[in-house]
Amino acid sequence: MKLTADELRNKYLNFFQSKGHTIISGASLIPENDPTVLFTTAGMHPLVPYLLGQKHPAGTRLTDVQKCVRTGDIDEVGDPAHLTFFEMLGNWSLNDYFKKEAITWSFEFLTKELGFKPEQLNVTVFAGEEGIPRDDEAIEIWKSLGIPEERIFPSPREDNWWGPAGQTGPCGPDTEMFIDTGKEKCGEHCRPGCHCGKYIEIWNDVFMQYNKTAEGNYEPLGRHNVDTGMGVERTICMINGYPTVFETELFAPIIGKIRELASKTLDDPEAQTKAERIIADHLRTSVFILGDQKQCVKPGNIGANYVLRRLIRRSVRYAKMLGLAAGYMQQIAEIIIGEYKHVYPELDQNRETVIHELVAEQERFEKTLEQGEREFNKIATVMKQHGQMQLGGRTAFKLYDTYGFPLEFTIELATEQGMTVDRQGYEEAFNKHQELSRTTSAGSFKAGLQDHSEVVTRMHTATHLLHAALHQVLGPTALQKGSNITPERLRFDFTWPDKMTPEQIQQVEDLVNQKIREAIPVVKTSLTLDEAKAQGATALFTAKYGEQVTMYTIGDFSKEVCGGPHVQNTSELGGFKIQKEQSSSAGVRRIKAVITNLQ
Ligand code: ALA
Repeated sequence: MKLTADELRNKYLNFFQSKGHTIISGASLIPENDPTVLFTTAGMHPLVPYLLGQKHPAGTRLTDVQKCVRTGDIDEVGDPAHLTFFEMLGNWSLNDYFKKEAITWSFEFLTKELGFKPEQLNVTVFAGEEGIPRDDEAIEIWKSLGIPEERIFPSPREDNWWGPAGQTGPCGPDTEMFIDTGKEKCGEHCRPGCHCGKYIEIWNDVFMQYNKTAEGNYEPLGRHNVDTGMGVERTICMINGYPTVFETELFAPIIGKIRELASKTLDDPEAQTKAERIIADHLRTSVFILGDQKQCVKPGNIGANYVLRRLIRRSVRYAKMLGLAAGYMQQIAEIIIGEYKHVYPELDQNRETVIHELVAEQERFEKTLEQGEREFNKIATVMKQHGQMQLGGRTAFKLYDTYGFPLEFTIELATEQGMTVDRQGYEEAFNKHQELSRTTSAGSFKAGLQDHSEVVTRMHTATHLLHAALHQVLGPTALQKGSNITPERLRFDFTWPDKMTPEQIQQVEDLVNQKIREAIPVVKTSLTLDEAKAQGATALFTAKYGEQVTMYTIGDFSKEVCGGPHVQNTSELGGFKIQKEQSSSAGVRRIKAVITNLQ
């Protein structure tokens, strides 16, 4: 069967309408009431209050198409499967029908309406764990529909539990539907969920019977909801038999335009494909974010603004690699708007803003890159005067570190001048720098900062917020005794004689989250220890600091002498959650806490 995306959207909505569902409008890409998530990540996201029990004006059976952004896997984009923006088709039961109807309709839609053969279908179901049984009901329903046991795969929580979308909220076991592409298995272990490309997941039915609380517990919701999500891009790809989503009608015109505008062909065809896909994906997502009905995200340095900036800048880097002709930003954006405006009229309504912001950000980034280029030319001139034709790895790294000048550009410029770049030396300099950062931090923080990864940096800032919050809630005698950060959690020891009450713990957590939501810049100042103390800074490990120290100030909330690193703005933390408060030693309490991801 051949099907266009328009036909798929219509078929889906009509099918579920025929099963008693009301078609509702999809929501904005910017979530309404959830500070822990930057973008709408699933169709259920705007429906959370109704899944929790509020009455929906359109009834108890709903269906829609929802714009979604997920940037957690941004570095994977370029492979056949990952996208940062996608459209999700969904149908919901708000305490109405449950597993039998949901699964039966999914099967009917896939086989009767979309023409997939039942033999192509493989499903996973929740395998169960202590306290929550295996989903035998789902297994029996699949079997009754003719799916044999060998194509029903019970899987653990990591694979077959969905939600909540943010930190708390409705969630539950799910059953995921995969189409077998007919490729060879990549090995013994190959099964639905394997990323080799044999099985492609296109739909997920979630049975939302649980609510995850702020304490991290799963409580029965007291309602039996169904939440489903079918990816438009992937489904179109599978129905029409394309190898990847990038060949579908949704991407082909964008990729076609990129090819038309490109003036360079990379030696490595895989790198070429990857660059084209990244530009197409990132600009499509950027157009949807900028063209959203809420019009509140612009390229910038924090939160959602930063995500948008990263998407645009990354596409500019790859556009340069392919030598896209001047004016490409506008031309590609026009293609995307043209292709989607009949489904998402807001893109056309906001056309001017979309193009203006894209081009302005491109220009800002190109200025930074120009500075790097000037620096490169200076170096190259001197080198050539000395008959040196290979740029050292350390110099290449410096261009990256100081000017944000990516290695691939350095190589490109060097090639143009008949020079080469010591790639291995670059890698070594890069690794050495990372090790050095680690050693430095280990030295200045016996507190135990493990590495400079992004999450650790964010947790480090969380530690400062926690410290300041403890001061406010408990008083100035609650002083840091030590801390330890791993990518999974932070641990914080402080002087305090008694067990904290649940109210105090809640107050501290709320205060930290409030400061995260206030999106306060984290300001770094260089000054002497005495000056810092005179300004009221907390200086913990004073003996370890030399004369000149760095002080990090978070509004009027926190001021600490510390070696860093820290995020630039508290909003980069996402959210904060205390998991445990316990005794550490006599007169010292210990808190274990986590931060929640941006997405
Ligand atoms: N909310 C579910 C998902 O995103 C359907 O997979």
